[in-house]
Amino acid sequence: MMAKKITVIPGDGIGQEITEETVRVLGKIDEIYKIGFQFEWKEAGGTAYDHTGSPLPEETIESCRKADAVLFGAVGGDQWDHLTPDLRPEKAILGLRKQLGLYVNLRPVRISDSMIDYSPLKPEIAKGTDIMIVRELVGGIYFGDRCESEIHNGAERAWDLENYSVPEVERIARFAFEAARKRKNHVTSVDKSNVLATSRLWRRTVIRVHDEEYPDVKLDHMYVDNCAQQFAIHPPFFDVVVTGNMFGDILSDEAAVLSGSVGMLPSASIGQETSLYEPIHGSAPDIAGKGIANPIAAILSAAMLLRYSLNEDKAADAIEKAVSDTLDEGYRTGDIYKEGMKKVNGIEMTEAILAHIK
Ligand code: NAD
Ligand code: IPM
Ligand code: MN
Repeated sequence: MMAKKITVIPGDGIGQEITEETVRVLGKIDEIYKIGFQFEWKEAGGTAYDHTGSPLPEETIESCRKADAVLFGAVGGDQWDHLTPDLRPEKAILGLRKQLGLYVNLRPVRISDSMIDYSPLKPEIAKGTDIMIVRELVGGIYFGDRCESEIHNGAERAWDLENYSVPEVERIARFAFEAARKRKNHVTSVDKSNVLATSRLWRRTVIRVHDEEYPDVKLDHMYVDNCAQQFAIHPPFFDVVVTGNMFGDILSDEAAVLSGSVGMLPSASIGQETSLYEPIHGSAPDIAGKGIANPIAAILSAAMLLRYSLNEDKAADAIEKAVSDTLDEGYRTGDIYKEGMKKVNGIEMTEAILAHIK
């Protein structure tokens, strides 16, 4: 059996708790499915800055480059918010995405029937929601030129440049169309082409890739503001949603909470060489250190790692089924708790999930 090298980066705040719990789950998976995990723990984010002076030490990047996959917790915290942009914890995840070329971010949002009462939407609206958000992750306004501060016409100003090139849009569009072919064959491309030049380039490129290479896939377009409201009033309309970096960031938090809590949504950031798996939520400083964070988003990210990086579909299914069985039995962390359910902390939730893994 070839060892599977996984770089594990817990990061800051609840990242530490949920990542430890997720590695326990992978440990149990290893016992049953004999995957041969070799975990290499590395620092990133504010804790890495405190220890090394850098939020993304070179040895962390090196370990990721050599790994079969990366498991990431979360970074950030108020105590580091005063640092210059290059030293902020968020630079760690942005730097990893860029340096590892993780251009696709998959964020699947499913509202299962057993969790439908936890959605802030009425059950008849939420029922059947199953969306795959395909977010472009290494371009757009996140990585354009910027100016932190300059004097212009006597006033201080700052600016961030949004830009997309045709090849950047082509590759993410192809990924979305391929994903749709394995699902319900429907792509909604989300942009703001009524206002932004980058969006107009985005839209005409998506249309060309569609017409030339994927004419069998149903394609429609939506402005991002309309998409935000359609998520709230008619989410089952969507199958695959493809969009740029910032729109994808915002829409995925909105979509995540449709399923009950941001603590439930996993993600996969996919590149040519390696891929990184992380919950979509942050380091949650308001609940960090209390042991109450919901570990499900992180644990489901590990299932995505097994599926997309290691082709271990059975092991991925086992995790996803264990999570859904645990929820069906009424185990609930605080973020998804309702009276009459079994209220548990993060470790107890993990233990319940571990007990269901077969
Ligand atoms: P957040 O996602 O950390 O928290 C938002 C809210 O959701 C909070 O009330 C939090 O308690 C709750 N929450 C989040 N995850 C939860 C979980 N697993 N279980 C239960 N409740 C959960 O977003 P924020 O407060 O805007 O950001 C906090 C810090 O995290 C900031 O420094 C931000 O930059 C960073 N951040 C990092 C990542 C990442 O590392 N990928 C993602 C988002 C935000
Ligand atoms: C996310 C986060 C990050 C982003 C931040 C922490 C840089 O919000 O992963 O969704 O904006 O992409
Ligand atoms: Mn986000």
